[in-house]
Amino acid sequence: MRLNRHPQEILVSRLYAANQDKIRDHFLRLDILSRRARFCGAISDYRILEYAKNIFRGDSMVCGASVDGQLRGIVELRGDFHSWPTTKEAAFSVEPDWQNIGIGDALFERMFAMAQNRGVRTIQMMCLKENSRMRHLATKHHTLLRSNHDAVDAVLHPYWPTLESVMKEVVGETRGYAHRLFE
Ligand SMILES: CC(C)(COP(=O)(O)OP(=O)(O)OC[C@H]1O[C@@H](n2cnc3c(N)ncnc32)[C@H](O)[C@@H]1OP(=O)(O)O)[C@@H](O)C(=O)NCCC(=O)NCCS
Repeated sequence: MRLNRHPQEILVSRLYAANQDKIRDHFLRLDILSRRARFCGAISDYRILEYAKNIFRGDSMVCGASVDGQLRGIVELRGDFHSWPTTKEAAFSVEPDWQNIGIGDALFERMFAMAQNRGVRTIQMMCLKENSRMRHLATKHHTLLRSNHDAVDAVLHPYWPTLESVMKEVVGETRGYAHRLFE
């Protein structure tokens, strides 16, 4: 199923340990190609279950994008939020039938605001060289791309928090909360 592009239908909000089952099911719905692109290699259902179980271990923050109340994409921001200067790794996944309608873009914006609001100085992203869609998304958001052998390392330096970045997160979370209340 494909939607036309209606960014207002995409709801992005933070996910917590209580949402772990939804996160697991989202990862399991990724097909072989998307799994390979997301994890930079093949990954079995068993490894996905393990990964999802441990996703909140450490300092990870996770945001989910839902359409019609169903989780369709997530971004993880991993790393120690207490170290200084802070460097985080971001990783995206959007389910195959829901790719290319703006979910990755919406997740990118929220991830960036979240990192900026927490004083993160560097965000790194790793994707396969052939992943031109992720590379496009990264450059669209002013990321510096560096090529390794098979992968591309993307680096992004957020600014300090601004009123705009704080409002982006607050308004987004409030919208998500209001939707859940009336669901
Ligand atoms: C990469 C991924 C996160 C992007 O999310 P998405 O929701 O599909 O992307 P969006 O719809 O928000 O944006 C896609 C953009 O790429 C462009 N695009 C689509 N196919 C493209 C291609 N083959 N080459 C270059 N750009 C492409 C679109 O035109 C759009 O650009 P625009 O916003 O400037 O018009 C998603 O496709 C995905 O999860 N893929 C599998 C896992 C993965 O690759 N993860 C990344 C590892 S960190």
